[in-house]
Amino acid sequence: MLTVTGAADIGTCTAVAAGTGNVQINSGSSVAFVPVTVTQYTSAQRTAGEGVFNDNGCAGCHQPNGGNPDITSSGLAEHTEAQILGAVQSGLNPEDGSPIPVAGHSFTLTDDQIPGIVAYLRSLPAAGAPAADGR
Ligand code: HEC
Repeated sequence: MLTVTGAADIGTCTAVAAGTGNVQINSGSSVAFVPVTVTQYTSAQRTAGEGVFNDNGCAGCHQPNGGNPDITSSGLAEHTEAQILGAVQSGLNPEDGSPIPVAGHSFTLTDDQIPGIVAYLRSLPAAGAPAADGR
């Protein structure tokens, strides 16, 4: 259990282990719990994902750093693994499931590459650009 106390933009929690749990937020006498899931990837998975990125021309549209449209740790921060994979494997916008408006945005991934591409994209330094879908 992580506990955060304060007003608006209250700061950063650092997870020390993979798993699920709650972040407790205290505001005056109010208490809220936010469920979080922390996933830990292996370096081999990240390497598999780097291969996907390099072999499929992702950088041609998203830039070599993945920063525009932002598919780095910042752009994907609010997206689940399933949403990210939906975008990569099926070409679906993470929020509303609408088609991503480019031809061929559905890539075939092996079992190693499926967690790998998520691991790799989440490991990219935050570009800080607006998320690709503007959120
Ligand atoms: C032909 C150009 C093009 C290529 C190649 C491409 N993308 Fe995209 N991608 C886009 C566009 C355009 C969007 C949607 C941006 C928007 O909705 O504003 C997008 C969206 C995404 C999203 C969803 C981002 C979000 O938050 O909405 C992910 C994840 C993604 N791409 C990953 C990849 C990966 C991984 C590869 C390589 C395997 C790849 N893309 C290759 C153009 C491309």
